[in-house]
Amino acid sequence: MGYQDVYAGWRADPDRFWMQAAEAIDWQKKPSRALFDDKAPIYEWFADGMVNTCWNAVDRHVAAGRGDQVAIVHESPITLSTRGITYRQLQDRVASLAGALRMRGVEKGDRVIIYMPMIPEALEAMLACARLGAIHSVVFGGFAAHELAIRIDDFQPKAIIAASCGLEPNRVIHYKPLLDSAIEMASHQPEFCVIFQREQEVAKLVEGRDFNWHGFQYGVKPAECVPVEGNHPAYILYTSGTTGQPKGVVRHTAGHLVALQWSMSNIYNIGAGDRFWAASDVGWVVGHSYICYGPLVAGATTVVFEGKPVGTPHAGVFWRIIQNHRIKSFFTAPTALRAIRREDPDGEWIRRYKLHDLQALFLAGERADPDTVKWAQQHLGVPVVDHWWQTETGWAIAANPIGIETLPTKPGSPSVPMPGYDVQVLDESGHPVPPGTLGAITIKLPLPPGALPTLWNAESRFRHSYLDHFPGYYETGDAGYVDEDGYLYIMARTDDVINVAGHRLSTGAMEEVLAAHPDVAECAVIGVADALKGQAPLGFLCLKAGATTPHEQVVKDVVRMVRDQIGPVAAFKSACVVERLPKTRSGKILRATMAKIADGEDFKTPATIDDPAVLDEIGAALALLGYPNRDKP
Ligand code: COA
Ligand code: AMP
Repeated sequence: MGYQDVYAGWRADPDRFWMQAAEAIDWQKKPSRALFDDKAPIYEWFADGMVNTCWNAVDRHVAAGRGDQVAIVHESPITLSTRGITYRQLQDRVASLAGALRMRGVEKGDRVIIYMPMIPEALEAMLACARLGAIHSVVFGGFAAHELAIRIDDFQPKAIIAASCGLEPNRVIHYKPLLDSAIEMASHQPEFCVIFQREQEVAKLVEGRDFNWHGFQYGVKPAECVPVEGNHPAYILYTSGTTGQPKGVVRHTAGHLVALQWSMSNIYNIGAGDRFWAASDVGWVVGHSYICYGPLVAGATTVVFEGKPVGTPHAGVFWRIIQNHRIKSFFTAPTALRAIRREDPDGEWIRRYKLHDLQALFLAGERADPDTVKWAQQHLGVPVVDHWWQTETGWAIAANPIGIETLPTKPGSPSVPMPGYDVQVLDESGHPVPPGTLGAITIKLPLPPGALPTLWNAESRFRHSYLDHFPGYYETGDAGYVDEDGYLYIMARTDDVINVAGHRLSTGAMEEVLAAHPDVAECAVIGVADALKGQAPLGFLCLKAGATTPHEQVVKDVVRMVRDQIGPVAAFKSACVVERLPKTRSGKILRATMAKIADGEDFKTPATIDDPAVLDEIGAALALLGYPNRDKP
C-alpha cells in the first residue's frame, strides 16, 4: 500500500485504523475502542485500555530476547566518552530507580520534575516515572532558575530529579545552584530531590532534602511496571505560549505509545534492532518522542548526544557518530545543518566517513530552507525529509512517510499530512482557501492519538488558545498553504512565538522581563531573520520620561535580565531605544510590520495605524543596528 491508500484507509475508518495500530503495543487490558468523544471537544484515545509505557519501551524487548541489544548509546564529544546500555541493563537500572522513588512515596499520579542534561540517566529518570505511573515534566537545562520555578509552582512535583551539572562546550552549567534557587523562588516545595553527581562537578546536597542518585537506590526492591488507564497522563511538557506563563502540554499514555510506534515504522522506517538518532535535547518534545520513547518503544537503539553540530570538536561529529553507530535514520534541526554548512560548505567532513547505513535525514523544529535541504541532499545522497510538527502534537502532522513509500520531496515543503491529521488551510472567517493561497493552518478535530487532549490545569486556556478561533478545528498557530499536489508549506507563525535555533520562544515572555526594568515604560520584542538560527529576538525599548540611565546601559541591563530570568537559550543579545512604538488606533503594537522592516521585506502600512511616521522612526533605529541587511540568510 502506498501513502494515498494508507491515508484514505484512515479517513474511511479512523477507529479501525488506530485499533489496528494499537496491536503493535502490549496491553494489560486491550481498549474497547479507539476514540472517546463523550467530552468533545476534549478527545481521548484508548481511554479504557490498561497499559504501561516503560513495559513497552524496555521490559517487553528483554522478554522478547533482545536484552543484550544496546538500547541507549551515550556519545559525549565534550567528555570524550562513548558508552552503551543494553535493554537488560536499562531494565535493571530503571526498575531500581523506580523502586527507590516508590520507597520515598512516589506513586501513580504523583508528579516528578526532571532537570538533567544529555546523559542516559535523564532517560532512565523518565522511564522510572513511567514505570510507576508517575507523571514527569522534563525542564530544559538552558532555562534559568526563574523558568524552573514557574514550572515547579504549576506542576507541584513531589520530587525533582536533577544532575549536578550540564556541559556546554565552553562552560560547566551549574544545575544544582540553579535548582536550589528555583526551589527558593517557588511557593511549592518538593518533598525531596535526587541528584545525579557527575564527575565534572560534585554538588553540595541539602541535608534531609537531597539524595545522591546511587545511595538513594542502595538495597531497594526493584519496582515492577504499574499498568495505567489509557488516558492517564504520561508526562507534561511546558512550551512557550504568548505570555510568560508556559503552556503545560498533556500527553496521555496510550495514544502516545500507539502514535509513536506507528510513526517509528511508517515515517522513520525504524523497527526492532535498527539504530536511530535524534540530535536534540530531552528538554524538548523531539527528545521525548524520538530520543527516549519512540525508538525504545520500537525496540531500536537510540543515541543520547551531548555536544553541538560544530565545535565539539569539529563539523564532522554528526557524520562520525552516524558512521560508528551505523545509524539508519537521523533527525536534526535545519539550524544544525546550517551551522555545519557554514564550516564545511563543500561537504569535506561528510566524505571522510562511511555513511552506508544512513537511509534518510529528517529535519524539523523550524522551517527547512530549500538551500539547506538541497545542500544536504547533494552531499549525503539520501532523501532529506522535512517534517512539520509541534510540542502539542507530539509527532509529525506532515511528513514524507518513507516507511510506507518515499514520495518525491519538494524543498521548502514538509510534504503531506499524516493519517490522523485532516489539515485545512482557512481564511480569517474560517472558510477553506484554494490551493496556493496563504491562510491559517488548522486541523479538523479530533486530533489523532498522541496529540494533546488539553493543557495541564488549564482547560479554558486550551480552548481559548487552540479551539475557539475556528470552531471544530485545532489552530496550529502556523500560517501557510497547500499546493495543487496536496503538499503543505509552513511559512510563519500567526502569534508571538518565535523560533531561535529550533527552540520555540515567546516574545511575550521576553517583553515581560524587559518591562520590569525600572527605566522601561514600554517595549516590544520581535523575531528578525538570522542566517544561522533562523530567527533572533530583537527588543525595542521606550524609556520613562526623566530616565537618566545611558541607553547603552539600559540595553546591557535588559540583555542580562533576559539571560538571568529566561536563560541563555533565549539568545537575546540586542535591543534599541526608540521614542515610540508603532501601534494601531486601538493600541495594538504592530510587531509583524516591525519584523518586515527589519527583514527588508515589502509591507503595507496597516490601515489601522495610529501614526505612520513611527514606522520611519523604527526603520531609522533598525538601520543603526545594521538592519535590514545584517546577517540575512
Ligand atoms: N544547558 C545550558 N545552556 C544551554 C543549553 C543547555 N542544555 N543549550 C544551549 N545553552 C546555551 C548555550 O551555551 C548558549 O549560551 P551562550 O549564549 O553563552 O553561548 C545559548 O544557550 C544558546 O545556545 P544554542 O541555541 O545552542 O546556540 P549556540 O550558539 O551555542 O549553537 C547551534 C548554535 C546552531 C550550533 C545550536 O543552536 C544547535 O545545535 N541547534 C540545534 C538545535 C536543536 O537541535 N533543537 C531541537 C529542535 S529539534
Ligand atoms: P515546537 O513546539 O518547539 O516543536 O515548535 C513548533 C513550531 O515550530 C511549529 O508550530 C512551527 O512554527 C515550527 N516548526 C516545526 N517544524 C517545522 C517545519 N518542519 N517547518 C516549518 N516550521 C516548523
